[in-house]
Amino acid sequence: MTNQNLEHTLVLIKPDALKNSLTGYVLSQLSEYHAGLRFAGSKIVNVPRMLAEEHYAEHRAKPFYFSLIDFIRGRDQYPDAPEKRRVIALVYQGVDAVQKVRDIAGPTDPHVARETRPGCVRALGSVVPVKDADGNVIGHRMDNLIHASATVPEAEREIKLWFKPTDIPPLMRPYETVTCDQSYYYQEGQLFTEYAADRTLLVAPGACVWKTDLEVLNAINEGATPAYTLEAVASKYVVNERPEED
Ligand code: GTP
Ligand code: MG
Repeated sequence: MTNQNLEHTLVLIKPDALKNSLTGYVLSQLSEYHAGLRFAGSKIVNVPRMLAEEHYAEHRAKPFYFSLIDFIRGRDQYPDAPEKRRVIALVYQGVDAVQKVRDIAGPTDPHVARETRPGCVRALGSVVPVKDADGNVIGHRMDNLIHASATVPEAEREIKLWFKPTDIPPLMRPYETVTCDQSYYYQEGQLFTEYAADRTLLVAPGACVWKTDLEVLNAINEGATPAYTLEAVASKYVVNERPEED
């Protein structure tokens, strides 16, 4: 079988699953034996705000957006223990991988999942009230344990957002890569070609990078309009670099 027959998809084991010791259960449900899926990448991520906001960019205008960002960053589960705020990010490879994982995850709302798809992962999730500073309930949050890419194009966007090519074994890499021929650094929303204190190195000459990421960096450097944001490129490189301040 060649890579052309295979799909790739992003799974996030969210902070509520980690806190409730459901990691092993989720991995079992997604195993090669159950689902015919193979690991292609994995990492433990303390989710920076930039990555959370890029990941959930489509929900920016929704009323639940801010609680969603706090949730995926683990701030709700561990308000006083920032060192415990993590997600496990996974890339799975397999035939029809995107839909298979969506089916194993189940409906977004854990109440709906329990009623309509008992046995799916999200049937073990919960819906919790969100309160304002005075303790008034202002909405609800869906603690639904895992994220799964919704479509093949979304999977490509998300895998490139969370993973560098070198996080994935060469023969399992799903998207085109190129070799970078110059250095790029990131600091506070800006791209630089020269090092200075507090700038994070994104890529150096000789680095293997997603082709589309390098096109974005080159476009920004040349003052052209990039196909996607600098933050979408930078997120995977700033991950786990230093503790977040907020
Ligand atoms: P993800 O795999 O997390 O992306 O979930 P999904 O693809 O099943 O749902 P969607 O992308 O539409 O929503 C992303 C996340 O936003 C969900 O996992 C929920 O936590 C949250 N969410 C979505 N819709 C609602 C809603 O109507 N109300 C609330 N409170 N949260 C929602
Ligand atoms: Mg989604």
